[in-house]
Amino acid sequence: MNELAGKHIVLGLSGGVACYKAADLCRQLLREGATVQVVMTEAAEQFITPVTMQALSGRPVYGSQWDAREPNNMPHINLSREADAVLIAPCSADFVARLAQGRADELLSLLCLARPTERVPLLLAPAMNREMWAHPATQRNLAQVVQDGAVVLGVGHGDQACGETGDGRMLEPAELLEELVAFFTPKVLAGRKVLVTAGPTFEAIDPVRGITNHSSGKMGFAIARAAREAGAQVTLVAGPVHLPTPRWVHRIAVQSALQMLEAVEPRAQLASVFIATAAVADWRPATASGQKIKKDGSGQTPVLGFVENPDILARVASSEHALVGDLFCVGFAAESHDLLAHATAKRQRKGVPLLVGNIGPATFGQDDNALLLVDAHGHRELPRASKRVLAQQLVAEIARRLPPLPVAT
Ligand code: CTP
Repeated sequence: MNELAGKHIVLGLSGGVACYKAADLCRQLLREGATVQVVMTEAAEQFITPVTMQALSGRPVYGSQWDAREPNNMPHINLSREADAVLIAPCSADFVARLAQGRADELLSLLCLARPTERVPLLLAPAMNREMWAHPATQRNLAQVVQDGAVVLGVGHGDQACGETGDGRMLEPAELLEELVAFFTPKVLAGRKVLVTAGPTFEAIDPVRGITNHSSGKMGFAIARAAREAGAQVTLVAGPVHLPTPRWVHRIAVQSALQMLEAVEPRAQLASVFIATAAVADWRPATASGQKIKKDGSGQTPVLGFVENPDILARVASSEHALVGDLFCVGFAAESHDLLAHATAKRQRKGVPLLVGNIGPATFGQDDNALLLVDAHGHRELPRASKRVLAQQLVAEIARRLPPLPVAT
């Protein structure tokens, strides 16, 4: 999607088995439109060759501070000045220690030290054995480099190359990419708590059957991700969908509309934005059988009665917190026809400042969509694009409409 178009990344590799992941990371960065300059320590070259990294990045790899290819013989200055970010992946325990000490006896730590700190961020993707990760010396060094302005992207948990299990694995390339994209995203929702509902609900008939709908949850998950990238603290209340939870988003899994309401109501009171994308079932079976309903051989079909589910959005939008202007509510409308008329009427009926309309059958399960934004001033179309792009645009639209944050005293 070219999420990193125009960005020039210095990808630094220090020594560690996770160097094999750096090859894939390099490809993913390029696929997103970045240019990548690889710099490797001597130890990194024990794990992966510069040949591989040159072939993948399309640029000669740098490894020595004495590299005569640079006319001024100052690769540490030239490489660090042209970067939009320096990403060290993998970042070994030894390399963290070097950074903490401000060492400059090989090219990679030298260019980290020489970079203009106010303009070129330094992001670290640590990778090491769990004991090395937990060691007080490593934690002390990490605290020091963070204090000095570096960003530590965290580590994964799981099986390690040494055969042990624990914290210290390097994050996966896709996770690092997500972190990098988030890092570059303007923080238009900094200081805001955002609550999102997503997916369908499942209304049980008996323990093995139920009523649900085709909502995939993709739009809501994309919005949750975009909101966190924009700096918000995000809670996602999701019906039964098998989508991965966006990083740093707190997910609460629910099944039915009543469970969704129970999860949403108290949290909405703490939020500053509520975005209801869930396709909540309008009705649920009046009684859910505790046991599987069996055929009795008579050919008679069961008769199902229904009761209406509570309207979660309308309830939240009519709460005191929303009415006094402390909670900005956004509704969605999935319609099959007459989108503008239905969305306009629905906005008023639900009592929300912003209603986002889309043609339901055309979008369920798809990766792209087109949205119609309706507010008190009129309507505006967000033309067909991926749900990811639309989510980013919608987050920007919402941020524009929020009251300013109270000034801290
Ligand atoms: N919604 C909700 N709780 C419900 C029903 C809907 O919170 N019980 C929210 C949805 O998440 C969405 C908006 O209300 O943001 C509109 O949902 P939609 O299903 O399009 O509208 P309905 O209220 O069901 O109206 P209708 O059936 O007339 O289209």
